[in-house]
Amino acid sequence: MSDDETLAGLLHAFVEVELRGALTLDDAYACKVKYLGKKGLLTELSRTLGSLAPEQRRARGQEINEAKAAAELAYEARCAALKAEAEARELGVFEDLTWIPPTPPGTLHPVTRTRRALERVFASMGFDVVDGPHVEWARYNFDDLNIGPDHPARDMADTFFVSPPAGSRWSPGDLVLRTHTSPVQVRTMLTRRPPIRIVALGTVFRRDDDATHSPMFHQIEGLCVDERVSMADLRATLYRFVSAFFERPLEVRFRPSFFPFVEPGAEFDMQCPFCGGKGCSVCKGSGWIELGGAGMVHPAVFEACGIDPERYTGWAFGFGIDRMAMLMHQIHDLRLLFEGDVRFLEQFPC
Ligand code: PHE
Repeated sequence: MSDDETLAGLLHAFVEVELRGALTLDDAYACKVKYLGKKGLLTELSRTLGSLAPEQRRARGQEINEAKAAAELAYEARCAALKAEAEARELGVFEDLTWIPPTPPGTLHPVTRTRRALERVFASMGFDVVDGPHVEWARYNFDDLNIGPDHPARDMADTFFVSPPAGSRWSPGDLVLRTHTSPVQVRTMLTRRPPIRIVALGTVFRRDDDATHSPMFHQIEGLCVDERVSMADLRATLYRFVSAFFERPLEVRFRPSFFPFVEPGAEFDMQCPFCGGKGCSVCKGSGWIELGGAGMVHPAVFEACGIDPERYTGWAFGFGIDRMAMLMHQIHDLRLLFEGDVRFLEQFPC
């Protein structure tokens, strides 16, 4: 073994083996004596200097001194660490307080996932995604949508009214929790000029609560306004949408219906995406699944929003996002979606 190897080996043994193994200050001191004491292993090396030629002696002496200084530093560092550990033990601090326990990653709620998927499909079809407030003017939620003061939907039994702040100039009845996403139609037509193509997705509120109704649920609204827009465009759009969403061609059908803000109005169904229309348990053998309401924007709504009904036509549709999520995941009770039970939510990993 060369002198260099001896020196490096001794330093390594002292720092990596002896000092590391020392668990008390006394142990560490004993190591120090063993290597750096008067008869220590590193000290002994200095005694061999006498046998060297003078020029070698200087260089070698310097190396040995550097190794001793490094050993001294390592000893002090080990003592400091042992003292800190002892103090922490005394304080009862055994753990690294900066350590954050690993938490299992969360996943998106099935409704959020469905909502995002809907947004993606409509955005790819050229629709802007817009938003509206949950606390809404009764005027936008009802009046401007041609839902008159005597309409049953305005009943306390159906609608959550919001008390205006004390001392404000608003009366009870002016503010509601929106009962549908259709007020976003009004907000959009008041602030944009045609051509308009938007979808609005979000939470709505009704005084309803059973296995298929929740007082808080989610809707998507679509609105298209331009010159010469027709019911055929509406149907083609819905057809394109359901086919893109379920990744297979699916028919859409209209049934005549009434909503004050559209004329003509319809409810629309899609061919069952699970059996392709043959009939299965999801569509209860009918081959069709009810989706929502739709129709041509009523001229009274255009007038309330300052859009010329002689020049423009438009269509709108609305349907429930939660029902869509239930369909996709075969969930039979709507309330499961909103109870926040981890055992339920865990069943929807990414
Ligand atoms: N807002 C209606 C509802 O909540 C749905 C709808 C939207 C109907 C647009 C026609 C046009 O039931």
